[in-house]
Amino acid sequence: MLAVSHTDRVFVLSGAGVSAESGIPTFRGVGGLWRNHPIEEVASPVAWERDPRLVWEFYSMRRRVASAAEPNRAHFALAKLEQNLEGRLFLCTQNVDNLHEQAGSKRVVHMHGELFKSRCDTCSRPPFEDFNFCEPPAEIPRCDCGGRIRPHICWFGEAPFEMDRIFRALEKCTVFMAVGTSGVVEPAASFVACVAGRARTIYVGPEKPANLSSFTQCHMGKAEEVLPGLLDIP
Ligand code: OAD
Repeated sequence: MLAVSHTDRVFVLSGAGVSAESGIPTFRGVGGLWRNHPIEEVASPVAWERDPRLVWEFYSMRRRVASAAEPNRAHFALAKLEQNLEGRLFLCTQNVDNLHEQAGSKRVVHMHGELFKSRCDTCSRPPFEDFNFCEPPAEIPRCDCGGRIRPHICWFGEAPFEMDRIFRALEKCTVFMAVGTSGVVEPAASFVACVAGRARTIYVGPEKPANLSSFTQCHMGKAEEVLPGLLDIP
């Protein structure tokens, strides 16, 4: 069991493995391919310029899959941990689905964006909730300014969101736990190295991550099987 004292500040980094049992395939699990396209080919600014329709087809498929998914015991355990820690949990997810929120987590930082939000590719209109386009749009949707509406996702080659807040939370944390993430995609893969040596560092997942050497504890197994026991949340 993970002992967390009333002075500990816990940073959790979740990855695709947390949503795997909810039916959302991981990236490395499908070989990084969608319809024989490497994911980078449909999730990048270059792809958006070359073929925005293909990009929307990919994200419409992902919206469809995510809208049928339900949170699993790992999401619920992390939501309960947030309640128990009363403001001392920082939950940073690389996942773009909303399963942490569906499980009851209130403060989730989506460093790679959110599947059910869109934004304009031209003007500074803030990202907005968008549950449309579970089927690909017939025409690329347009903003009032004439720009094109794109998914609010951090694509390859773009900067992740909320990095200032994330680094401030990393500086303060005394416990760092990564769950269901392969440890290969930067900058998230290096978060553990930022805190190693001064925070307890824990990995949870069925396979060893690429950055395993920075962790002090590794709990092998599926997140939904390991987390409830590890966090003592039935
Ligand atoms: P990956 O697909 O790289 O890795 C998924 C990890 O989840 C692997 O280490 C699996 O062993 C583990 N896993 C599988 N089933 C699991 C389970 N039931 N419980 C726990 N772990 C399980 O996914 P990420 O590391 O999240 O970025 O990928 C990081 C980023 O790469 C993604 O956010 C995405 C992608 O490019 C963007 O879209 C910007």
